[in-house]
Amino acid sequence: MAYILTFFLLQVVLASSLSTIKVPLDSSKRILRPDIYGYSIEPSSVDPYIQSNLSSNILKNIAEIIGKPAPIRVGGNIADQTQFDPSLGTPSSALPDDTKVEVFRIRKDWFAGWGDYFPSGTDFIYTLNLRNTTGSWSTAMKEAEAAVNVLGESLSLIELGNEIDHYISKGWRKPGWDTKQYTRQWFQLTDQILSSAFYKQAKHKPHFQAAVFADPPWVPDQQEEVDDFDIINVTRAGLVDPSIIQTYAVHLYPQSTCDAARASRLSLNLLSDHQVVWTNISQYIPQEAAARAANSSLVLGETNSASCSGRSGISDTFGAALWGTDLVLTAASIGIEQVFFHLGHQSEYSGFTPLPYNYKGEDLSAGIRANFYSHFFLAHILAGNNGQPLEITALPAANASDFSGYAIFAGEQQLNLEKLVFIDLGVWNSTNGVHNPSTLSSTDSDFASSGTRPQRKVQVDTPWKPGTRIEILKLQGPGTNAKSDVNVSGVSLDSRTGNLRGQTKAEEGIVQNGGLVQIELLRAEAILIQKA
Ligand SMILES: *[C@@H]1O[C@H](CO)[C@@H](O)[C@H](O)[C@H]1NC(C)=O
Ligand SMILES: *[C@@H]1O[C@H](CO)[C@@H](O)[C@H](O)[C@H]1NC(C)=O
Ligand SMILES: *[C@@H]1O[C@H](CO)[C@@H](O)[C@H](O)[C@H]1NC(C)=O
Ligand SMILES: *[C@@H]1O[C@H](CO)[C@@H](O)[C@H](O)[C@H]1NC(C)=O
Ligand SMILES: *[C@@H]1O[C@H](CO)[C@@H](O)[C@H](O)[C@H]1NC(C)=O
Ligand SMILES: *[C@@H]1O[C@H](CO)[C@@H](O)[C@H](O)[C@H]1NC(C)=O
Ligand SMILES: *[C@@H]1O[C@H](CO)[C@@H](O)[C@H](O)[C@H]1NC(C)=O
Ligand SMILES: *[C@@H]1O[C@H](CO)[C@@H](O)[C@H](O)[C@H]1NC(C)=O
Repeated sequence: MAYILTFFLLQVVLASSLSTIKVPLDSSKRILRPDIYGYSIEPSSVDPYIQSNLSSNILKNIAEIIGKPAPIRVGGNIADQTQFDPSLGTPSSALPDDTKVEVFRIRKDWFAGWGDYFPSGTDFIYTLNLRNTTGSWSTAMKEAEAAVNVLGESLSLIELGNEIDHYISKGWRKPGWDTKQYTRQWFQLTDQILSSAFYKQAKHKPHFQAAVFADPPWVPDQQEEVDDFDIINVTRAGLVDPSIIQTYAVHLYPQSTCDAARASRLSLNLLSDHQVVWTNISQYIPQEAAARAANSSLVLGETNSASCSGRSGISDTFGAALWGTDLVLTAASIGIEQVFFHLGHQSEYSGFTPLPYNYKGEDLSAGIRANFYSHFFLAHILAGNNGQPLEITALPAANASDFSGYAIFAGEQQLNLEKLVFIDLGVWNSTNGVHNPSTLSSTDSDFASSGTRPQRKVQVDTPWKPGTRIEILKLQGPGTNAKSDVNVSGVSLDSRTGNLRGQTKAEEGIVQNGGLVQIELLRAEAILIQKA
């Protein structure tokens, strides 16, 4: 009797731990662009970044995998603190220094260094100073002329101002600054640019990325001032012209270090949570619809784990790599076409830092942080379609706090299932790999989960023919809290050079009867399944 009971219980346990995930073929799919993952670089950080070859090698390796370089937006707070000064002795100059910038001065050849440094074919977005209206935006006009002339066809889009919904709280516009005033000024400045001689004579005429709003629509305590800035309201106010507005940008930082109240809520557990990612991203569904109704599209023009430069121990962990992967795929699944991760050359959330520096009493080396590996893993997801867009849908049966899943399609009518991605976002803390010399050692974790690291069995019901050979690539690390020892199936990037290190050891499998695919993934791990 006891024996039979045990057997019965075992069956129940097995059946519940091996739920079958069906891939819905008729669900709505959204575009997954090969250049969905980009970087946004603070203007005063560009020169430090290009002083070492680290970023150039990292970005070249990524571009070779995907078949298309990551797009680079040069913008951020400093964009509206930039002055154009042809008599400057150097291409750029940050005052008082490049970490506490009050004024950033540039001359024309500041733009000249970018084309040689970044992989050829890199698309740039440049943010003009919209704050300074002196002389009918003479600063912005000179910046635009220099950028258009020097960057040529690599200047894909121009932005006007950064986080313009914070202009009142910064004292840059008077109360009353709203979508109507902004729209009027936006068209004044773009009309000036479009009718200028430099623009008319340019072989390549860049279009614009509009909006550039900071505040998340649904989170009042993250809103800097009361205003009406969102994509729905601004398109209603008339900021619509698909012949020149290619995209609208919004910025999203799920957490924040900007003030004590928000800093006290910072949490790695909260970052590594798919339902949180969904809560954060789903507020943009109506925003994306408004952008699409205006025949343009929506991008996350700046993101990272926590605003105001991030927090070491959270932002620079393997958990942040799993978060970044989930964020990009969730964003794509609601129609957000690009996601730009913000970089400062000494910021705690930067995926890589170009130069050694002294910070909070420690000597940090240049290097690559664990969170960067979201980009390296996504490169494999985006690869293999000759640099052409894929399509994506989120899987309803893989949609929990600790688990998410996506199906990726290609081919004629985008009907061919090409890839599956699953992410286990459950928190597993390890004592291995907790240190990284490019991050603060004071934030190295001493949390450790007890017992053995759990493994999740996943069975997927696919339209793939039985017998089809598949390969599995893994984004793996010692644990959510780890800052190093992260790789994609054995391959990592050398922290000093940015060169690839190691051989890919993909696991192989075979599609079973009925199209079933069975895989296992560790707690805190992501896998990519694709036809071999
Ligand atoms: C960067 O790479 C270029 C070309 O390979 C080389 O000439 C240059 O010396 C390198 N710069 C640094 C700082 O290593
Ligand atoms: C605005 O630009 C003018 C030059 O056109 C400069 O003299 C002035 O200092 C700038 N103002 C600010 C606040 O940067
Ligand atoms: C859009 O504008 C309306 C009316 O001014 C306002 O009530 C609403 O809060 C605005 N939406 C956002 C997200 O700011
Ligand atoms: C993201 O979601 C978390 C959890 O609900 C919330 O605390 C945070 O304020 C959200 N952030 C944004 C920018 O939506
Ligand atoms: C968007 O495109 C559709 C189809 O071409 C057109 O009917 C509509 O008027 C356009 N809307 C705007 C705002 O340009
Ligand atoms: C995932 O769950 C959320 C509710 O938590 C729901 O709104 C969303 O539509 C679900 N996603 C999918 C792909 O089913
Ligand atoms: C994992 O470790 C981090 C610190 O690195 C800690 O904040 C978090 O609470 C830990 N989570 C669990 C579930 O142990
Ligand atoms: C890749 O990472 C995993 C998890 O940290 C580790 O066990 C494995 O040894 C690493 N592989 C290589 C080649 O570094």
